[in-house]
Amino acid sequence: MTLRWTGDRTFSLEPKNPAFFENPYPYYRQMHERTGPVFWEQYGLWCLTDFVAVDRCLRDRRFARLPPAGHEKSPYPPHLQAFAQTERYSLLALEPPEHTRLRKLVNRAFVSRRVEAMADEIAELTHRCIDQFEADGEAELLSQFATPVPVTVIARLLGIPEEATDNLLNWSHAMVKVYTMVQSPEDETRANEASEAFIDFLQVQISAHRRAPSESLLSHLIAQQSDADGPSDDEIISIAILLLNAGHEATVHQLGNGVVALLKDPPVNSQWFNCRQSADAVVEECLRHDAPLHLFTRYAQESVTLDDDVVIEKGEQVALLLGAANRCPARFDEPDVFHADRSNNQSVALGAGIHFCVGAPLARLELRIALSTLFKRLPGLSLVGAPAYRDSYHFHGFDELRVKW
Ligand code: HEM
Repeated sequence: MTLRWTGDRTFSLEPKNPAFFENPYPYYRQMHERTGPVFWEQYGLWCLTDFVAVDRCLRDRRFARLPPAGHEKSPYPPHLQAFAQTERYSLLALEPPEHTRLRKLVNRAFVSRRVEAMADEIAELTHRCIDQFEADGEAELLSQFATPVPVTVIARLLGIPEEATDNLLNWSHAMVKVYTMVQSPEDETRANEASEAFIDFLQVQISAHRRAPSESLLSHLIAQQSDADGPSDDEIISIAILLLNAGHEATVHQLGNGVVALLKDPPVNSQWFNCRQSADAVVEECLRHDAPLHLFTRYAQESVTLDDDVVIEKGEQVALLLGAANRCPARFDEPDVFHADRSNNQSVALGAGIHFCVGAPLARLELRIALSTLFKRLPGLSLVGAPAYRDSYHFHGFDELRVKW
């Protein structure tokens, strides 16, 4: 399969083709051959692929995640009403001033002091996971390591009982289907049922935390309800669902993608994790080299001219290809090469601007601890066969990742 230029800056590329979503990078390389925005026929969207252009657009207030007044999207159909309710106060579905108010409440919970305090717990969790499979000499890392660590961490941070993590995973998996390109009517029904169950569950949790407050984020949000700008129960539910879902989906896949990058491009070994500085550099390079989230869109709030000649009309969307920006040859030397000690490697894997990932400090901490524990405990780690990719472009990662040591 190839990317076919059908005009000077217009191309045809099937996003559902496995050759593309399993390895989009050669196609990004082709896009980078043209300067400025390129038009993707299948999506009907202008796409930004240069690092500077993507970074700038994420910070540009003439673009937003929501369409401007008068250009609203049609509401979700009745069979997706519970799903719509979970999104109602999601930070990703809000813009200032509502976004500013709720983001401030959430930011307080993610101050680095609070996140760093979880380091020992994360280390203990990663060791506990490895203890369970170390003697086997092989493992499927996605289900046995990359999934349980982030989901348990985010559940603990919120103050959700650990026994609920299986339910959280099932609900979350059912709900994210709505954002992918492969959903069917049955998927939508399942996503709505999952949303209903998730909302009911959180209502019970909120009551429990109200009766017996703890140090958890849920208790922290409830405590702020007495403030004039404090959150309502519905807002807390939306925030909690977003944090629980966003808090593990991307981290699971970044962990998987990172392990594969480290195993494919030696010599990265446990030595890299002996010092905090080089471990941090490895984590940043994992994020840059193979991030799990590749495409976000923004709506023009007014008519905007990009690159002097491409006009995005008010209410139209532009696509930001984060995965392409992170391999931009104008920004990174040898962009396709994994350089564990690359300096100046700040990418857009975690976004930029007002929607910049609120969980970034936690994600970086989890990645550093999980990767370093894994490579130190299992120094002979290697891949068993080729890992199986997920059939999705928006969430770039694996379904299965078999390793041995
Ligand atoms: C490696 C793991 C992660 C990656 C690659 C990632 C990536 C991103 C990106 C690209 C955005 C911006 C979306 C946009 O601008 O449209 C974002 C936003 C967000 N992320 Fe993450 N994320 C990760 C982990 C986490 C974790 C651990 C949490 C929660 C604890 C989290 C919670 C959020 C939330 C709540 C937002 C929305 C922020 C807002 O709209 O103000 N993410 N993330």
